[in-house]
Amino acid sequence: MDSLSFTVVTHSPEETKALAERLGTAVEAGTVLCLVGDLGAGKTLFTQGFARGLEVAGEVTSPTFALMNQYNGRLPVTHFDLYRLEREEELDEIGFYEYAEDDRGVVLIEWADKFLDALPEPYIRLEIERGEKENERRLAFFTTEEDSALWRALTKK
Ligand SMILES: Nc1ncnc2c1ncn2[C@@H]1O[C@H](COP(=O)(O)OP(=O)(O)OP(=O)(O)O)[C@@H](O)[C@H]1O
Ligand SMILES: [Mg+2]
Repeated sequence: MDSLSFTVVTHSPEETKALAERLGTAVEAGTVLCLVGDLGAGKTLFTQGFARGLEVAGEVTSPTFALMNQYNGRLPVTHFDLYRLEREEELDEIGFYEYAEDDRGVVLIEWADKFLDALPEPYIRLEIERGEKENERRLAFFTTEEDSALWRALTKK
């Protein structure tokens, strides 16, 4: 399981987006990022910043109804939202494994914790929680492998 964690507290949507953008600039192909947190925690907002760092042009929207959106940036980006999925078998039907196991691109998965057993390893997990103040968020990252570009970008000063 996760052996390493790194936590960042942000105080505004802009700060979360800027952090995500910096990580998106560094991320390498084959990275799977699982986004965990309540409704309105900031999973989509984080993805928007991350996509910007990956040089995705145009708007990144929530795939809650589409279940999956794809973008072309510096690398292909696949963005899943599993909120509306009820059964693990549906992952097959939406082509989840084809994309999640294709290591030429980057995959972000909102509500990934619904189907933890089904996720392709290794992955980085990001848990977003609300803080005490209105716009405060605690972003806790977990990984089993610190040897990735994303992790290095996250933990370097
Ligand atoms: N520090 C912060 N970081 C991220 N978002 C913040 C922060 N402070 C306030 N917000 C607000 O929280 C909301 C996050 O919404 P977002 O759609 O990203 O959530 P989500 O986790 O994707 O929710 P859902 O589960 O419905 O998809 C936005 O309205 C954003 O402006
Ligand atoms: Mg969302």
